[in-house]
Amino acid sequence: MAAFNLPEMESKEFALWQTLLEKRTGMWLPESRKAFLIAALTRFMKDKGVNEYKELYSKLDAGAISVLDWASLVDSLTVHETCFYRDIPSLKVVTSYCRNKALEGFQKDSSKPQHVQIWSVGCSTGEEAYSLAIEMDKLNIGLKEACDKTVYFGVTAVDISYPSLAVAREGIYVGRQLDFVPQTTKNFYFNRLADDYYQIKDQIRQRTCFIQSNVLDLGSKNKQEYDVIYCQNVLIYFRDERKKKVINQLITRLKPGGILVLGHGEITNVSGDELTRVDNKHCLAYLRKDN
Ligand SMILES: C[S@@+](CC[C@H](N)C(=O)[O-])C[C@H]1O[C@@H](n2cnc3c(N)ncnc32)[C@H](O)[C@@H]1O
Repeated sequence: MAAFNLPEMESKEFALWQTLLEKRTGMWLPESRKAFLIAALTRFMKDKGVNEYKELYSKLDAGAISVLDWASLVDSLTVHETCFYRDIPSLKVVTSYCRNKALEGFQKDSSKPQHVQIWSVGCSTGEEAYSLAIEMDKLNIGLKEACDKTVYFGVTAVDISYPSLAVAREGIYVGRQLDFVPQTTKNFYFNRLADDYYQIKDQIRQRTCFIQSNVLDLGSKNKQEYDVIYCQNVLIYFRDERKKKVINQLITRLKPGGILVLGHGEITNVSGDELTRVDNKHCLAYLRKDN
């Protein structure tokens, strides 16, 4: 295959790309990622028969590139790294919160069904959303034994990346991707397929729903509220001001009394009168005050 060499990208030009990407995705590419941007653009431009960064930039900025093409470029510039049970302390905080909420609800009115809606924001290929759903199912098994009741739960998971969401919806993973899944969980919640592939069982898939969405548009989408908002390893690619804006949007989508879980160390100062930090040094979580 013939080499397709693009010229060096000048700092001024790189700055234009940084701004465009940030405007559309929130992601800020530091100077150290310039080579990565050039590599992704090279592949994309070769595919589209475009010869200059400037030409591609103008087309993108003017909206003269199809939504799908733009999505595939963004996809190649985004980090999708994830795994099952990536942050066990945070998962534990969520299940303990949901257990207490359910028990309080049953105590108040044992005939009233209890509901928990979870939002996984920046879900990548689905491992985070499925880990949450599996842990909620285990919680239900415990509640059934303890008080013969269960909660109705659903996990809505969103991401900007169409290809990642396609993988998530299938729920098929190769064996090594399940390395952090306890063996009993693996046996109970996954069907073994051929060639060391595993698929999440329907009982869990039916509890999850994957939707394409950009966190920068949260303000303009439907205003469903959630009991649990779980957003990890997405905002680390954003600059501080934008992180704060997104977090403020997330807070508006949290039910009173709901819990927001971020990635450990992802942001230092989430402030707001309506939030209380969960007292757990292993995770970064906040409760919205119950008015
Ligand atoms: C590193 S992965 C994190 C996956 C998972 N939350 C975890 O912690 O394992 C970051 C994900 O955020 C998504 N993402 C980045 N910018 C986004 C945006 N503006 N809106 C929605 N998702 C975004 C990426 O597509 C990617 O799948």
